[in-house]
Order: sequence, then structure tokens, then C-alpha cells
Amino acid sequence: AYDYTLKPHPVLAPPTGPVMVCILDGFGENEFKDEYNAVHMAKTPTVDALRAVPNRFRTIKAHGTAVGLPSDADMGNSEVGHNALGSGQVVDQGARLVDIALETGTMFEGAGWKLISQAFPANTVHFIGLLSDGGVHSRADQLVGCLRGAVARGAKRVRVHILTDGRDVPDGSSIKFVEELEAEMAALREKGCDIAIASGGGRMKVTMDRYEADWAMVKAGWDAHVLGKAPHQFTDAKTAVTTLRGTDEAPVSDQYIDPFVIVDKNGAPVGTIQDNDAVVLFNFRADRMVEISKAFEYEDFSTFDRERFPENLRFVGMMQYDGDLKLPANFLVPPPEISHVSGQYFVRNGITTFACSETQKFGHVTFFWNGNRSGYLDAALEQYLEIPSDKIEFNHAPDMKAREITAASKEAILSGKYKVVRVNFANPDMVGHTGDLGATIRACETVDACVKELLEVMDSVNGRWIVTSDHGNADDMVQRDKKGRPIFSEEGKALPLTSHTLAPVPIFIGGAGLPDTVVFRDDEPEGGLANVAATTINLLGYEAPSIYKPSLIKA
Ligand code: 3PG
Ligand code: CO
Repeated sequence: AYDYTLKPHPVLAPPTGPVMVCILDGFGENEFKDEYNAVHMAKTPTVDALRAVPNRFRTIKAHGTAVGLPSDADMGNSEVGHNALGSGQVVDQGARLVDIALETGTMFEGAGWKLISQAFPANTVHFIGLLSDGGVHSRADQLVGCLRGAVARGAKRVRVHILTDGRDVPDGSSIKFVEELEAEMAALREKGCDIAIASGGGRMKVTMDRYEADWAMVKAGWDAHVLGKAPHQFTDAKTAVTTLRGTDEAPVSDQYIDPFVIVDKNGAPVGTIQDNDAVVLFNFRADRMVEISKAFEYEDFSTFDRERFPENLRFVGMMQYDGDLKLPANFLVPPPEISHVSGQYFVRNGITTFACSETQKFGHVTFFWNGNRSGYLDAALEQYLEIPSDKIEFNHAPDMKAREITAASKEAILSGKYKVVRVNFANPDMVGHTGDLGATIRACETVDACVKELLEVMDSVNGRWIVTSDHGNADDMVQRDKKGRPIFSEEGKALPLTSHTLAPVPIFIGGAGLPDTVVFRDDEPEGGLANVAATTINLLGYEAPSIYKPSLIKA
């Protein structure tokens, strides 16, 4: 068996107090320091003071190949970011693995594909997922690769159920993605396939809930995709999306459009899900696919009334979303395997952990942090605390649950029970995703004040801490041209940027328990999120495992 024993650090003795890792989600260090950078515009005296400490502030990479994404044009995200932070390693992530499976054709040779192909001759194949090129949860070109693959291999009838984005891509782009998909489907129709869009809705309203924040979203998705029931019916998807985006006076963003069903001229839904059909969830990322997977996979499911549960469904995920639950049992591409995560070292060395966030980020500091493992690694040594998130659009309450998370974490620090305290503040990310600049500035200010409180408490117990982030978001709230100039609408309004950014993230170290000699080394200029785990292990007084990306500090 693998030996998880951590060796004492040659110079740095363990602290008497705990080590805290605090993640400011979506808080990047952006080169554009102008009025659209909420991190820059916010009054953040705590972080400003940390930036001024010599050799204890630097930036690290949080996007692209540094976190296992296909290319450096890919912005970071919380899944890959927390995977890297928690595991100390960089692995090829879902987006990349699906690309490889399509390029090499292994996609079409596996057991998952065989299962869905049973429906090709006489039943319908349904694809459900996020329609955009964001590359965070899914990619439209990968959907197209699967559609072409299915039609080339004999699929006679295909229905696509689309979730509109506007969160990983600019708001309003949903219409373009629908047009592109329609054009592709027209070409596939020429090849003899009966293919159409059947239902849909905004990703923050339909199907893509996460961490059980709001099951009603999943029920709305089930009703539209499976039963063909939704508050709105249209005869084509472009009209659906265009209409449901509202008016100039009452606009609705792509993320939040109502569920809809496409009907024929007699008003009958064109693509309900029937016995013996195949269903493919084409998102590769897990968090927002787990709930809908349960509804499709579990015979015995009572969270909401499914009304009708199709028999003998050939149901697959693009990936297996939860390896512990084996959910779903069938999938097209094997997920990344993330082994030897820092939490496994901790529990095998008796190191106690407290992890806390609010619902929207709870699985990030637990499931993603632990390399996509659900539940505790060792319940006797760990406590995971979830503060329930509000069910609202977060620009209306930009403080979110930061104060509650702070209070709970302070208590955990002062309890003396934990050697590691891990905290995630959701605000800069979740409010940043709304595109609301003012609210996002407020979000950053709130988090700054919370960090101040946490650092004071950490000092009172002689602790050591790392404050960092998982990817950019709040640090740029405007769409820009290639030269970096903000883009304005015809009416002169700056076009909001709702997505993450490519910016690196700051990392700060400190604490009353940290010897003055401990500073960032200068020979790791390419350091990224995956270097944080080794850094944390050093702060705990141990040498980092040799399989980890190197520590960022010298003692
Ligand atoms: C979401 O799921 O909310 C966004 O697509 C990505 O945000 P996250 O990676 O910060 O969770
Ligand atoms: Co985000």
C-alpha cells in the first residue's frame, strides 16, 4: 500500500495554532486596473495591506494548462481550480478528456456509446446540456461531435434539450449558439436524421442546480425535457429564446430564461422522453449534473414527483459525475482520476480539518477539493460545515453568507480542534456572474472585511495562513476588444462580463505563528494553484510529497 506518512519539514516546525487556507472565489489579480475591475474598485484595506508585505504576496496561474484545461485560452473555473488546490497536482480535466475521446474516436468505442447506440435504429437519442462554448461545464463543439458521431452510426431520431448560458459566455450569446446548432442540425437532416431541439431553459432556472441548493430547478427541467411540460410553448427554439429574453424594459438574461417546450403545429411536444430512448447528459463537469442524473438513474427517487419514469432508458453522462456513488453507472468518457489528494495525507497523519462554505460553494471545498470524492475522507478527523445559501440572484444580496461563514470559521479556529481550516467565500464569483459591477464591488468589500476578522483570530491562536483564490471573475466586469478596450452598446452602455477571467490570482501568506524567515521563493515563477497544497503542507511543518507541484515558500 502507498505510504502516506508525511516527513517533518527540515526547518519549519509545526505551528502551535492551525493553518488556514482561505479562498476568495473569483478574486483575480487583473492587469486591467480600471473602473470595471471590481477587485480594484472595492475598498479592500485588508488585502491592500497584505499586498504591501514584501515577499509574502505573489500571483499564481489559475487558468489553462496550469489547471489541466485544453489550452491557455481557457479561463479557470472552480472545479479545476479546487481540484488543483486540494490535490497538489495537475491532471487532464474533463474538457480535455472529451476532446481526446472525440479526436481519437474512443468516444464511439466505449460501453457508454454502445448502450446509447441500442436506441439508434428505432428510438430517440436525447442530448441534454449547456449550450455554449464556455468550456466550463460543456462545449457546443463537443455536442456537435457527438451528434455527428451518432448520425454517422445510424441514429434515426435525435432531440436536443438546451440550457442557455450567459454565465460562462456573454449574456445574449444564447441566440447565436441556437442558430449554430440549428445550422448543424439542418446538415444532419440532409443525412436522413430526424433531429430537432425539443426543450430548454436558462441554466440558473432549469436542470443545472448544484449541491441541492434548489431542487425545483431540476423538477422544472424534468417536466420540460421528459414530460414535455413547461410554462411556454414555441414552434422553434430561436423564437423561444428570443421571446423569453424579454424586452428592453424587462430584460431576462440567458441564465434565467423560463423553461420552454418546442411543439409541432398541433401543439404536441416534439421530443418527450419515452421508454427505450437514450439520454446523454453532454456536460462533462459534475456539480450541476448530479441532481438530474439521480432523477434519471434512480428507479427509486422521491425528491420530486417525476409523474412518469420512462422504462429501459439508455442513460449516460458525458462522464461519471460521482465516482463514489458511481453516478451515473454508464458514461461516455472516463473522468479524470485524481489520487493522493492532500486530504488523504492529512487523515492518514492524524491532521484534523474543518471545511466551510455556503451551499453554492460547499462541494467546491469538499468534493472538488478532495479530487471529486463525495463525503468525508475520515469523519472522525474532519468536519464539513455547509451554511445554506439564499435562493436568489446574488447581486440582490452581495454579502451572501460571508458573515455566517466567518462566524462559524472563527469558532472552529478558536475551538482548538482543527489543524487545518479551509474556507471559501463565494461572493466575488457568484455576484461577479451576475454582471452587476456595483454589487460585485460590494461583494469584494464584504469579503475583505471578513478576511480581516479571520486573520485577527488566526493571530490570536498563533496560526499560519494562506489567502488566495481559485480563478478570476470580479476582477473584470466588462467585455473587451482584442486591445483590452471596453466594448459599449449602441446606447453607450458598457457590456457586462459575467464569466470568469484568465487573470492569475493573488496568494498571500502570513500569521503570528509564521517565522519571519518564511517567504515566497523566487525560483517558481510559473507557479499555479497546484503549488498551494505543498505550500500548505510546509506550513503545517511537513515536507510535501514528491509527487506534488513544488511548494512556493522557502524557510
Ligand atoms: C457556475 O457553474 O456557476 C459557473 O459556470 C462556473 O462557476 P464556478 O466554476 O466558479 O463554480
Ligand atoms: Co464562477
